[in-house]
Amino acid sequence: MNKKVTVIGAGNVGATTAQRLVEKELCDVVLIDILDGIPQGKSLDLTEAAPIEKHDSHIIGTNDYEISKDSDIIIITAGIARKPGMSRDDLLATNTKIMTQVTKNVTKFSPDAIIIIVSNPLDAMCHVAFNASNFSKNKVIGMAGVLDSARFRAFISMELNVSVENIHAFVLGGHGDTMVPLPRYSTVSGIPITELISKEKINEIVKRTANGGAEIVSLLKSGSAFYAPASAAVEMAEAILKDKKKILPCAAYLKGEYGINDLFIGVPVKLGKNGIEEIIEIKLTDQEDSALKKSAAAVKSLVADLEKISL
Ligand code: NAI
Ligand code: 2OP
Repeated sequence: MNKKVTVIGAGNVGATTAQRLVEKELCDVVLIDILDGIPQGKSLDLTEAAPIEKHDSHIIGTNDYEISKDSDIIIITAGIARKPGMSRDDLLATNTKIMTQVTKNVTKFSPDAIIIIVSNPLDAMCHVAFNASNFSKNKVIGMAGVLDSARFRAFISMELNVSVENIHAFVLGGHGDTMVPLPRYSTVSGIPITELISKEKINEIVKRTANGGAEIVSLLKSGSAFYAPASAAVEMAEAILKDKKKILPCAAYLKGEYGINDLFIGVPVKLGKNGIEEIIEIKLTDQEDSALKKSAAAVKSLVADLEKISL
């Protein structure tokens, strides 16, 4: 029997995620949205592409959560996206209400699933889903670091004119302006980028990475990035479905790791069939550590604002 992944939100990120999942033949997909017709139409369209794309994964679009029963993974992209001038944090109240409802609806039918959160503001939405699901902390994972690191890797590749496949990079912290790209741990075929690129240029790349989401919003004008976010969510899902034990930067609930308590924030984790199987603690310099703590403080203040939202 194929693995089953439910994607909630059939908008730009959700539909592209569903497309990548079936076209890679990783699983069958249930695509759910509150809008009638959108998940059904997009799923039928993707089904009709299957003979040409040469895969036998099945995809069903629906508004009915019961169809998602016994999913292995749930990917939540439901919510509103940023428009020019809006920060991710501006989405807090609306997306908290949506996330609470959606999480309750879907976990009722898939109590053993692993949840990947995509909706923004990412780290705060992980808290909302964690509380609404009552799942253990290894089973609620936020997608941000894989995307932010991919942007960092793409910019390094553009600078050095080398294959993106040779580049490894890490971005820690919250998915916001305070994220912490780590040049020291970013390498080209094992060579730290600090040996290959000037300090000034690295600073420029780091800044562009932290501003990566806003750069796309200002170009698109009517929404935010979705191709790279979908790729990132699918890389995480694939690591879980195939029990790959892959080390990826993801938002995880910390209980003392990195000196941070009771907070979702981006750190390197090992992803396998049980979700987060290990939180990897890497050595940080004082400067990197204080940047991570500053990022944690920003997430913490947003999480505190969750209390003020009446559901
Ligand atoms: P979109 O507007 O294209 O799609 C959102 C979909 O959610 C819509 O189809 C909408 O009908 C649906 N929706 C709204 N309320 C719902 C509910 N109660 N139940 C089910 N579906 C519901 O937005 P897009 O571009 O797909 O972005 C989705 C979310 O992902 C946004 O919050 C965005 O900020 C976030 N995002 C996060 C990223 C990250 O790195 N973590 C990257 C890119 C986007
Ligand atoms: C991004 O980074 C909007 O969070 C989204 O593109």
